[in-house]
Amino acid sequence: MADIFVSRRIFQEVIDMLKEKGHDVEVNDSSRILPQEELIEKTRGKEGLICLLNDTIDEKFLDACPDLKVVSNVAVGYDNIDVDAATDRGVIVTNTPGVLTDTTADLAFTLLMSAARRIPEADRYSREDKYEGWELMQPHVGVDVYGKTLGIVGMGRIGQAIAKRAHKGFDMNIIYTDIERRKGVEEEFGAKYVGFDEILKKSQFITIHVPLTPETEGMFGGEEFERMNDDAILVNAARGPIIDEDALAKAIKNDQLRGAAIDTFEDEPDVNSKLAEIEEFVVLTPHIGSASLETRLKMVKMAVENMIAGLKGKEPRNIINEGVL
Ligand code: DGY
Repeated sequence: MADIFVSRRIFQEVIDMLKEKGHDVEVNDSSRILPQEELIEKTRGKEGLICLLNDTIDEKFLDACPDLKVVSNVAVGYDNIDVDAATDRGVIVTNTPGVLTDTTADLAFTLLMSAARRIPEADRYSREDKYEGWELMQPHVGVDVYGKTLGIVGMGRIGQAIAKRAHKGFDMNIIYTDIERRKGVEEEFGAKYVGFDEILKKSQFITIHVPLTPETEGMFGGEEFERMNDDAILVNAARGPIIDEDALAKAIKNDQLRGAAIDTFEDEPDVNSKLAEIEEFVVLTPHIGSASLETRLKMVKMAVENMIAGLKGKEPRNIINEGVL
């Protein structure tokens, strides 16, 4: 049976699933991201690779691992993989869509609320024993969420799960932009399809749910922040490079927008120091959109199922490059 390399520590029960199917499995049983040379060394000669979103699978990697048949990414986003290069070399690429939709939408909405209601600031203040009694003009007076205008950039699975929360739970007025119009979503959640410019100008909250592509990289920079409402809060639980973070920090400091809630960074794992300097209405979390125990387990199981199918010569349920078959 085919050999598989797993690039990072994952749940033992899924390693056992692979072994039960007769596969030889080698695991980097740590949280250390392997430098590409080391990842190549470990993967060379193997037919399967289960990897994470911060493993770069490019032409160089694929050429160095000619026995590889399946790359199974434990993430819905796959901007870490050169899919065309994999297809050219006959390598199947899979991802883990669907199972993380609600968990990621929960997190994005939590971030939005945390920034609006200044939860991390209030938490730090309480722990530092600074609370001296309730008063009307408390230091952490935030802004309301319910009834406000929410701009959703990207109305795919996660965008729609956000629309559901915003519409059903918070009576928000939803506007959205996407590569295609979603009439069903418009009817169900009263969402209005608008251009990007209208999203920038009319939203009090903007949340990003597009993949990272050459078209979306740098989508939010200095010019866009100038066009945004000065009371707007920007949420990003998609991919860091969609935002120019230095420009975002500058725009918040210049009161061009109120704040931001950022889960994914431009240069992960580095957290932008200019953003980290801003206390008010800014929330930063370390890429935890899908980070619930249940969901992380579902993601890994899905990745393993994709791997088992691909190595058997069957079409995996979540194949990205169907053209390879
Ligand atoms: C993904 O799956 O792409 C997320 O960023 C991590 O769960």
